[in-house]
Amino acid sequence: MQVQAESRALQVVSGLAPRQRGVTRRTKRFLNGASMEQGRRPLSCGLKEGKKLMQIRSYRSDDEQAVIDLWFRCDLVVPWNNPRLDIQRKLQVDPELLLVGLEGNTLVATVMGGYEGHRGWINYLAVDPRRRRCGYGRLMMDEIESRLAARGCPKINLQVRANNRDVVAFYEAIGYKVEELVDMGKFLSHDPPYEQS
Ligand SMILES: CC(C)(COP(=O)(O)OP(=O)(O)OC[C@H]1O[C@@H](n2cnc3c(N)ncnc32)[C@H](O)[C@@H]1OP(=O)(O)O)[C@@H](O)C(=O)NCCC(=O)NCCS
Repeated sequence: MQVQAESRALQVVSGLAPRQRGVTRRTKRFLNGASMEQGRRPLSCGLKEGKKLMQIRSYRSDDEQAVIDLWFRCDLVVPWNNPRLDIQRKLQVDPELLLVGLEGNTLVATVMGGYEGHRGWINYLAVDPRRRRCGYGRLMMDEIESRLAARGCPKINLQVRANNRDVVAFYEAIGYKVEELVDMGKFLSHDPPYEQS
């Protein structure tokens, strides 16, 4: 039995617990020295007063390049996942659970949800770096949670890569809890490398 390096992800699971603020001791241990300075709300989140808030809708085919560009800007693209194929596969299974967030015509956020009949899963949560700490991440998660709950999904699981520990504080702030699990994975096929069209 082999546990692959990229599979050593933290598993954080959403329960029905009330939303939590702050960082738990367990999370502090997990962060293991990661700077919480990065977690402070910046002086301005970049939104001008009165500016229209982000609108959320399901993915459309003409969003493809903007979505992939955002995933690169958010460091979510890894060599073993071809983002174009990830989108195409998602369009075969519950495509309405791939959401995009827009300010006007500008795509600023994404989240991909899934439900296999037991647990809901979250992937590709991304907010444009220039739009962080505006509440957009929380809004995207609220929307995908509502859509999963509407399908009867009782609980959401998600994984955080070991090199992305800072994001745990975000998930805790919106009610997710770290669970002590060994995360495992096995590839059934391998994606060809992504090439920009
Ligand atoms: C994680 C991510 C989606 C958060 O998006 P965001 O729009 O900045 O988050 P929000 O503004 O909705 O934050 C909600 C709360 O989470 C907490 N939070 C958000 N980012 C945080 C951070 N870096 N450190 C600590 N707490 C954080 C805060 O409590 C915040 O509330 P506040 O603004 O009132 O203080 C964004 O940082 C991102 O795209 N990261 C890169 C991609 C990624 O890692 N995705 C997750 C893969 S598992």
